[in-house]
Amino acid sequence: MKFLIATEKPFAPAAVKQIREIIENAGHETLLLEKYTDKKDLLNAVANADAMIVRSDIVDKEVLDAAKNLKIVVRAGAGYDNVDLQAATANGVCVMNTPGQNSNAVAELVFGMLLNLVRSGFDGASGSELRGKKLGLHAFGYIGKLVAQIANGFGMEVFAYSPSLARNPEIGKEFNVTGVKSPEELYEKSEIVSLHMPANDQTKGSINYELLSKLPQNGIVINTARKEVANEADMVRIMEERPKFKYATDIKPNNHDTMVEKFGNRYLASAKKCGAQTGEANVNAGLAAAEQIVKFFASGDETFRVNPK
Ligand code: 3PG
Repeated sequence: MKFLIATEKPFAPAAVKQIREIIENAGHETLLLEKYTDKKDLLNAVANADAMIVRSDIVDKEVLDAAKNLKIVVRAGAGYDNVDLQAATANGVCVMNTPGQNSNAVAELVFGMLLNLVRSGFDGASGSELRGKKLGLHAFGYIGKLVAQIANGFGMEVFAYSPSLARNPEIGKEFNVTGVKSPEELYEKSEIVSLHMPANDQTKGSINYELLSKLPQNGIVINTARKEVANEADMVRIMEERPKFKYATDIKPNNHDTMVEKFGNRYLASAKKCGAQTGEANVNAGLAAAEQIVKFFASGDETFRVNPK
């Protein structure tokens, strides 16, 4: 079988080397398409592929239709909002993710961004500390739990909201986290909120003025999830109204230039999405993806399938 690794943002070379070994030791062939800038290159590359490993690469109907031999796509990472699941199902393609494999890198970045904000971009102005601050985790999956563990080390008081935690607050105990019943309660109780939900129809635009205004005047939001979950106009409005409000995002919003111009170092965005961009995360997620595909072809294993059949 031909395994295409299609990564606009490549894995670390050491990860690619190990992914190749898994594929080739199982008797398959590797095709590699990195740093492509034109969708045509992806359309050409998928034409012969039986399997595909991607990151945030857009796998839409056009890509899936061009991939006549494709049986499986694995998103080496958590969020699969970049893959058209309906079109995949219609074409008989199995879609999987690799949950948890790159979470630690994202959790660590939360604190990198947070420290930058509370120390005003390291410009020498008097900042503030994390110890004793109230941190709210909006969603409590693999990343949320790791963020909680690190926050405990900083001596923060941690709250979290997720539907499962609201049903069973006991889950939080192991992580020294107080589960709350609603997003509204989370923002009322927190000084800093870190977003960890997927982007879907329910969550897109859900971080809106109503929720944000429940944070204190000097509230902070860290977004290492997806740009689409934050309502951009509402973020501008709250930051205009509250001169100490801060926002950091690992994914540049569409209104990035406005945010830079209006809010200076109260706003921080990474140049390119880098939450999962560590050698360790690349190895963990990339190897898991290759192994999942090898198993899929060897035994039909669909453990991490995310699209309906
Ligand atoms: C994920 O969903 O796994 C993260 O957002 C990482 O995405 P990336 O592989 O594009 O860096």
